[in-house]
Amino acid sequence: MKKDAPVGVFDSGVGGISVLRELVKILPNEDFLYLGDSVHAPYGTKSLEEVRTLTISHIEELLHNGAKAVVIACNTATSAAVAVLRNMYPEIPIVGIEPAIKPAVLARPNSRIVVMATPMTLQQEKFKTLLKKYENQAEIVSLPCPGLMEFVEQGDLESEDLKIYLTNLLTPVLEEKTDAIVLGCTHYPFARRMISKVAGQDITIYDGGSGTAREMKRRLTEAELLNPMEKTGQVTFFNSLDTREERELCEFLLKAEI
Ligand code: DGL
Repeated sequence: MKKDAPVGVFDSGVGGISVLRELVKILPNEDFLYLGDSVHAPYGTKSLEEVRTLTISHIEELLHNGAKAVVIACNTATSAAVAVLRNMYPEIPIVGIEPAIKPAVLARPNSRIVVMATPMTLQQEKFKTLLKKYENQAEIVSLPCPGLMEFVEQGDLESEDLKIYLTNLLTPVLEEKTDAIVLGCTHYPFARRMISKVAGQDITIYDGGSGTAREMKRRLTEAELLNPMEKTGQVTFFNSLDTREERELCEFLLKAEI
């Protein structure tokens, strides 16, 4: 495997760019190939089989394009396909993402934590196992958010409609005193400002982006695959929705203030 090959990053759409931002910060000398599947998004309301098949084919696309390692920057795709992919490609570092319940529980033991994620992520065995591990250390409430990723796919990070959607979604669950919210979908960090506005400043918000980026750095270091070049790496975007608007949205989200 070539050290100067790019790192592949995959998501159902543009959400994984919230993870890519962390990767670029922590691995500034790596090149990244970002692949989004906005044509088939959302994944979170599809069947397990559909998401697994789509994810495997897109990860293979990244590998055929020369990726030396892959980040599945999508909680939904990770829960559906990471185990299968690791079996298929044991020699490739493959890092997935999961809702950041661990850091939230460690920082706020015995608290009430709301996990926002897609319906599919919350239904999967992987999530149930994660929940079991921490359920004695905090009150963890699952909140499926069908429809939320669509705002981000449209580049809508602060409209009145988004505010109304979030108010309707969060008000009932936040009636009980809540300490933290975990953003268990990589699209949601782009709506973080609005989520915080609706939920209130006292609630701490966690996401898994930086932990996932650190894990990729560890894996590349371990496999001796870090790019030795001292030049700044490049990001190349691919999307199944191959339009100018989509490319502009990707560039915008990579740099947007969130
Ligand atoms: N960004 C994805 C995640 O982290 C899912 C969005 C979707 O396709 O439903 O779960």
